[in-house]
Amino acid sequence: MGKHRIGWMPGDGVGNDVMECARIVLDKLGFDAEYVHGDIGWEFWKSEGDALPQRTIDMLKTVDCALFGAITSMPKEEADAELNPELRAKGYVYFSPIVRLRQLFNLHTNVRPCKAYPGNPLNLKENIDITVFRENTEGMYGGVEFYPLPLEVFETLAKNNPKMKRFESAGLENIAISTRIMTRQACARIVNNAFKYAQENAYKKVTVVDKPNVLRETGGLMVRTARVVAKNYPDIELEETNIDAQAMWLVKNPDKYHVMVAENMFGDILSDLAAQLVGGLGFAASGNIGDDFAVFEPTHGSAPKYHGMYKVNPMAMLLTTKMMLDWLKEAKMAEKLEKAIAKVIAEGKVKTYDMGGSNTSLDVANAVAELL
Ligand code: IPM
Ligand code: MG
Repeated sequence: MGKHRIGWMPGDGVGNDVMECARIVLDKLGFDAEYVHGDIGWEFWKSEGDALPQRTIDMLKTVDCALFGAITSMPKEEADAELNPELRAKGYVYFSPIVRLRQLFNLHTNVRPCKAYPGNPLNLKENIDITVFRENTEGMYGGVEFYPLPLEVFETLAKNNPKMKRFESAGLENIAISTRIMTRQACARIVNNAFKYAQENAYKKVTVVDKPNVLRETGGLMVRTARVVAKNYPDIELEETNIDAQAMWLVKNPDKYHVMVAENMFGDILSDLAAQLVGGLGFAASGNIGDDFAVFEPTHGSAPKYHGMYKVNPMAMLLTTKMMLDWLKEAKMAEKLEKAIAKVIAEGKVKTYDMGGSNTSLDVANAVAELL
């Protein structure tokens, strides 16, 4: 029995490659843990019709937190086409397992740091230090969608909002609706977590990003709630921006933003944009954090074409591992790991293809491990 009990979910594609890298540095750090494997990903969708089998959910209830590699996720038709023929037409529906995990375990706060480590040739600019707080359970990820549009839903909407009538002539079979449901509670919680982080790390401003001029109700709720929360932090400025303009400003002045907060979908987009400013998805770490459980995952996808080739940059996974150590209150190990990562980047000797090098993922992990 180790000191910590960690759910270990490589997933598919390059998930396994980068998880192996995480293990190299954890072992070198002397991290005392028991690792419990969890089945998750495309393989289980194809064979069982469930990318997140119940046994994995049960396992996750027994661990302190989990580390997750990557998974393939596809739109409906493509997913159906890959399902085991024996399971077809039996009502199996593909849901992204990571989105399910976030909702099932109420991992409401997705923290995505994007920091320009000195010497990274892929940095857009020096001194970029952005952390995106993304609401992780609601908004357009709520899964409340309709297609074709049931008559009852149409009539209810039309009765309550005259703007709905405009769509009637298209015909119900030609209308698709994805909802964006947001609650005051979740808005308050994510904004509060962003402010708390700003306070603890001496940042002077929190930027709330939405589009309240058009999305008057959901965007409006987010911004109005942020104003209320901000009153509890009189020393920290609340800045309000629109997602479209913010995308432009992030490219123009990436060093002027530090703590950013957004609902689920805007946070998803914003965090990919912020990641690209500091080297792309090869450097993008993230933590899905709830009240007493968390799942840590690099932001990148599964890149199936590189599966098993140890080609992708494991830095995102190593930085994710650092976040997990912090969450587990292994602050010394976390600091040591980040310093080693920073040094390998600064030296620029060992690097994967995205950084213009030809080293493998394992070479990078070993170079980091050597400094620990
Ligand atoms: C992310 C990813 C996921 C998301 C996908 C894989 C469902 O893009 O973690 O940012 O949209 O949240
Ligand atoms: Mg994303």
